[in-house]
Amino acid sequence: MENQHTPNKCKPHAILIALPLQGHIIPSVQLALTLASKGFSITFINTENIHHQITQSSSPSNVSMGEDADNSIFAHARQSLELDIEYLTVSDGLPIEWDRSLNHDMWVGATMYCFPAHVEMAVAKIVKSRPSVTCLIADCYSPWASKLARKYGLLHVGLWTEAAVVLDVYFHLHLLRENGHLGPGARKDEIDYIPGIKSIKPTDLTSYLQEEDLTTICHQSIFAQIDDAKKADFILSNNIQELEAQPISALQAQIPFYAIGPLFQTGPGFSKGPVATSLWAESSCLDWLDTKPLGSVLYVSFGSYAHIGKEELVAIANGIKLSGVNFLWVIRPDMVSSDEPDPLPVGFRDEVGERGMIVSWTRQTEVLSHRAVGGFLTHCGWNSTLESIHCEVPLLCFPLLTDQFTNRKLIVEDWGVGCNLCDERPVTEKEVSRKVQDLMGGSMGCKLKSKMKQVKEVVDNAMAKGGSSQRNVDTFVDNLKVAWDARLAS
Ligand code: UDX
Repeated sequence: MENQHTPNKCKPHAILIALPLQGHIIPSVQLALTLASKGFSITFINTENIHHQITQSSSPSNVSMGEDADNSIFAHARQSLELDIEYLTVSDGLPIEWDRSLNHDMWVGATMYCFPAHVEMAVAKIVKSRPSVTCLIADCYSPWASKLARKYGLLHVGLWTEAAVVLDVYFHLHLLRENGHLGPGARKDEIDYIPGIKSIKPTDLTSYLQEEDLTTICHQSIFAQIDDAKKADFILSNNIQELEAQPISALQAQIPFYAIGPLFQTGPGFSKGPVATSLWAESSCLDWLDTKPLGSVLYVSFGSYAHIGKEELVAIANGIKLSGVNFLWVIRPDMVSSDEPDPLPVGFRDEVGERGMIVSWTRQTEVLSHRAVGGFLTHCGWNSTLESIHCEVPLLCFPLLTDQFTNRKLIVEDWGVGCNLCDERPVTEKEVSRKVQDLMGGSMGCKLKSKMKQVKEVVDNAMAKGGSSQRNVDTFVDNLKVAWDARLAS
């Protein structure tokens, strides 16, 4: 233990290290704001690459970087909300402008083997200069976190940003192995022996667990991450206790686990928070949306990370065109596995005309809050799912990667707030057209909207004063202090 701690009379100080991915930075920033508003000092660490992307994509109209231009994404929050949040950046081991999306496995390797060294140097420096440091908060996908926390005498808090059921499965990988549901020749029947999960199909497991080859760098990384997350002193999660009561109870039987979601701003801050987090420049779609009737626009986005094949993209494009509905579609430049500069079918943009708007990135929370949006064709990313529930926009599900398959099950089968885009892959344009029409104008849309209302109410209650998420944050803060006092006394 290298930390020379002073008695715990000062406020808790957390070092929070965000996983360098869009869908993880957003809840990490919100966690920093939440804990700072509970009296924590926070040192928030981003990678240089992420910082560069955020600052490059920010324009004075869509970012609040603060007037002191001290280079912190928290400058505005610190000034106007008087929150004690320091900000620093470290290298992930790769050149700042290196294309991480194109060189995915190299990036995974860097985050496993280089990034932790840079983080450690930063943590060592902070601990030396600030003896009040209490805990290290790291995304659960950080296989180095528990060792680092131990080395510097800090409590280790994991941040889980996905559905609780996903972590519950990951925490019971040994059962999947023992029962033959993992790896080459895996069983195809339902899995009914994981604590907290009544039954789940192998096709609803995360994409990594459905693969035959479990030796890739992604698998090595995930297995190491989960082993490490199990060693955390506490886990904070972007979950809602009432929505996933059983997997959360199963996790709580193993580890102090606190569901404190959803981790986003509510009220006016929902569509424009006090901290810039976007990795790409956001096109404003408000003027276009303003011209469209109430609930008439299908919003289409496949998130920040997943790729889609050209054939599926073309089937979806033709299906949306055939459906006749208005649509706003986010197509990230790196999203389509194709060398062509425009992956959409020839003539598509002209044929849909004013009915469609296509952008490479937008402010999704602003779009989902707009009265014109009536449905969301989504890859089922966890943030997108929670944001859509918050805005009562029903979902049309097209999972592509990782946890999105499990999220689809929650959305469609457990909560009834969405339906499948297709039941069999590859998707066909006829099926897309039929499903889009049914969602946007048919009986399916009405049914899903009424379920959405109920689920949103559950989430709102959890977030309200005295609700489960609020209570869980407070309990975490109390328990952290008790654990810290016990550690200092020992
Ligand atoms: C992946 C996982 O699938 C997800 O479950 C995990 O929580 C994070 O990593 P990702 O592709 O990032 O997901 O999707 P999602 O979780 O939905 O997060 C994307 C975020 O980007 C959302 O907060 C969304 O509001 C935002 N976004 C997306 C934009 O601001 N603009 C866009 O144009 C598209």
